[in-house]
Amino acid sequence: MNSDAIEISGDGFRYSAFVGRGLIAKAGEIARKVTDRKHCTIIADQNSAQFFSDRVCQALASRNFSPQLIAIPAGEKSKSLMHAGELCDEMIKAGFDRSSFVIGLGGGVIGDISGFVAAIFQRGIPHIQIPTTLLAMVDSSIGGKTGVNLEAGKNLVGVIHHPAVIICDVDALETLPPQELRQGYAEIIKHAIIRDADMFDDLLSSQVPIHRSGDALVELIRRNIAIKARIVAVDDRETSGERALLNFGHTVGHGIERATGFKIPHGDCVSIGMVAACAISIQRAGFSAEQRGQVVALLKKFSLPTQLPAGVDREKIIEAIAHDKKFLGGKIRFVVTPKIGDAHVSSDVTMDDIQAAIAAL
Ligand SMILES: NC(=O)c1ccc[n+]([C@@H]2O[C@H](COP(=O)([O-])OP(=O)(O)OC[C@H]3O[C@@H](n4cnc5c(N)ncnc54)[C@H](O)[C@@H]3O)[C@@H](O)[C@H]2O)c1
Ligand SMILES: [Zn+2]
Repeated sequence: MNSDAIEISGDGFRYSAFVGRGLIAKAGEIARKVTDRKHCTIIADQNSAQFFSDRVCQALASRNFSPQLIAIPAGEKSKSLMHAGELCDEMIKAGFDRSSFVIGLGGGVIGDISGFVAAIFQRGIPHIQIPTTLLAMVDSSIGGKTGVNLEAGKNLVGVIHHPAVIICDVDALETLPPQELRQGYAEIIKHAIIRDADMFDDLLSSQVPIHRSGDALVELIRRNIAIKARIVAVDDRETSGERALLNFGHTVGHGIERATGFKIPHGDCVSIGMVAACAISIQRAGFSAEQRGQVVALLKKFSLPTQLPAGVDREKIIEAIAHDKKFLGGKIRFVVTPKIGDAHVSSDVTMDDIQAAIAAL
């Protein structure tokens, strides 16, 4: 099984991501590779609990773990300080202490709040990620970012707390609704644009929808974990600028999310934001109109939107971006790409560039 693991390591952290089919049944065996502890809280949401918690508990019990499930409501609202506090209270009541650990079983919401709880409970206990959405497998479970939302905005409170291991059972995606699968593909296409031109070409030329073939999907997820792993290896705390590349499409994407009151899913907003980032890259980084066309074609192939829905107020998007970002001397740090697979942070992008790109959406 070890040969299948992808190593994620950097300054002060080293762990593996196991990716394959049927891995939930092996969760106990994999967890035993990284811990000799016994008691663990499995934090899940109602959906991930319903689909997977029995099998995860069984797998853990077979390796002499003593798991206890806590399920919270599904959805972004659960990523709050209040829920984090309640989870800690429940863990204390159930007798958990510093020698226990936490498993996050679910999508990015669960990964983020369970990781945050693991980071703060008794000043920090180990965390194991069992992501069950495509987005969580290729993006949020990797890199140690944990946290919750505040009224004032998303992910405003958090800690870097890397997991001890990540277990991606690709079979878990069989129950994932197409709309959620699409959110993961938006981040996969982002990875291709910033760092992997070959993956971009493979995705564009593949005839069979990737998600219909389990083995191809395993390969694709592995490839994406490796891309994110290479980025966090050198910059897990977002200091050198490398991790900022993961924000490609996100400046405008976040603006759209805020301007529409978070009614449009994140990946869909990022998809539209990537189209804007391509237009800005044409202006500021020598990106070609032909490659912009390929990006649009690939997003469409995965049923991702490439234009703003009718009725969205473009002014509001611009206000949200201006509120979010520091403009130094009228310029902003913005991820651009001169060609697919080769993104970098530019300090030359102006509000006029952004305005023009949004006007064209
Ligand atoms: N920590 C990071 O680096 C990072 C990176 C990107 C995103 N995020 C965070 O991730 C969150 C979004 O994650 P998400 O897109 O996975 O959303 P999510 O966790 O809300 O999951 C989406 C929906 O799918 C359901 N679900 C989960 N697994 C399922 C399965 N196998 N079958 C059927 N339904 C299933 C969930 O219950 C939920 O209703 C956001 O809060 C975002 O801030 C974090
Ligand atoms: Zn994103």
